[in-house]
Amino acid sequence: AFQVKLASSGATYEVPADKTVVQALQAHGVEVLTSCEQGVCGTCLTRVLQGECEHRDLYLTEEEKAKHDQFLPCCSRAKGPLLVLDL
Ligand code: FES
Repeated sequence: AFQVKLASSGATYEVPADKTVVQALQAHGVEVLTSCEQGVCGTCLTRVLQGECEHRDLYLTEEEKAKHDQFLPCCSRAKGPLLVLDL
């Protein structure tokens, strides 16, 4: 598990191993717009302000992934203990 923190509210939520970031946020009433939920369409693209992403999508280029400043929360996860999201 890891934590995601929302920059707007400062609220921090745990993302368990069996849930995506989108699902974990949804469980707390935070909606992220999604479409494919497979890391293909880019609909859920979210800015990352802090932390390292474990990218599992097919949407971002390798160059974009290396910057760790955006990710696809329908499938991608965190490498470290915390991601701060621009939500
Ligand atoms: Fe399509 Fe996340 S919903 S990439």
